[in-house]
Amino acid sequence: MLKIPGLIDPHVHLREPGATHKEDWDSGTSAALAGGFTLVLAMPNTQPPIFDAATLDLALAAARAKARCDYAQFLGAGPDNARDVRDVALRAAGLKMYLDQTYGELRLDSMLLWQEHFKTWPKHLPIVSHAESRSMAAVILMAAIYDRPVHIAHVSLREEILLIKAAKERGIKVTCEVCPHHLFLSQDDIPALSGATAGSAVEERPSTTAVQKTDGVRSGRSEVRPRLATQADVDALWQNLDIIDCFASDHAPHTLAEKDGENPPPGFPGLETMLPLLLTAVDAGRLTLDDLIQKMVINPRRVFSLPEQPDTWVEVDENATYEIRAAEMHSRCGWTPFEGWKVKGKVRKVMLRGHEAYRDGKILVEAGYGRNVRV
Ligand code: DOR
Ligand code: ZN
Repeated sequence: MLKIPGLIDPHVHLREPGATHKEDWDSGTSAALAGGFTLVLAMPNTQPPIFDAATLDLALAAARAKARCDYAQFLGAGPDNARDVRDVALRAAGLKMYLDQTYGELRLDSMLLWQEHFKTWPKHLPIVSHAESRSMAAVILMAAIYDRPVHIAHVSLREEILLIKAAKERGIKVTCEVCPHHLFLSQDDIPALSGATAGSAVEERPSTTAVQKTDGVRSGRSEVRPRLATQADVDALWQNLDIIDCFASDHAPHTLAEKDGENPPPGFPGLETMLPLLLTAVDAGRLTLDDLIQKMVINPRRVFSLPEQPDTWVEVDENATYEIRAAEMHSRCGWTPFEGWKVKGKVRKVMLRGHEAYRDGKILVEAGYGRNVRV
């Protein structure tokens, strides 16, 4: 049995308030424990979005009642809330800025609005940017101009990881995260994920275009932002592992009915598949266990100034091989893009602050056991 520290996922969508049919603080934090995570940072693109004191209270009340692992809640940067978010900054995981198209309403188009937040948000607290390609270049420049750190969410392209590498070499305070789906899936997997019939092609488009649909082929389950990239992009991420500070699931649950429906929302669940996928990569020699712990515990704790969790660890059967099955998961969304994948490494037991929180498929702590780490 392998014993590792409780893992930290700095990027999850738990859907409460507003879309608890997809996930809520209970099911989402149960999925976290089952995946070996003892601390998650929740994104603000809920309904309503979390963008001021009142909405932060709303999310934290639900979390206090229902969370089974520890947590903190992000605030969203909106067009006119720079002061509102600054006033409650210490109670939040950080500020999330959506600078590119994604799920939900929070998106800042004007660079004047970005600047407003860069000027107002306290320098010592994290800003996380959903910024792809050229907007990523712009936000890194802004971080350099305002001399403050910025964390780039879900890096997926070769041009992005190489730019972050160059920025780091220049001493710009940029950190980044990569998601398992951008490490283990590429555009080549889109037809199979979409349920397309053999031979039907899914058109390749640059990642900045809006909708990815072609005649007769539903992009369905493969929809995610940032989109799945080319194999060359995937290879570049693996070749630049040392530039990647954190692994983050971007756990973005939508139900199977929604993914297979008319207007499939973007997003993959990830909390329960991330560790086994990465442990399988460790077994294959693609990264070391030390890399994994750096990027799933040590670095996220440093980047987001998170406290250590005492008497907290995860026991993993590193030799257990099995097939990933959505039916065995705790997430409410009911599917995974990795269905049927053979993996090696199974979470057996999770200890959280001295209590057994999970063992062999069962959640053992009550709803409400989880603590807000920002109080
Ligand atoms: O695919 C995505 N889904 N990317 C995001 O940035 C948001 C997320 C969601 O909330 O569903
Ligand atoms: Zn996200």
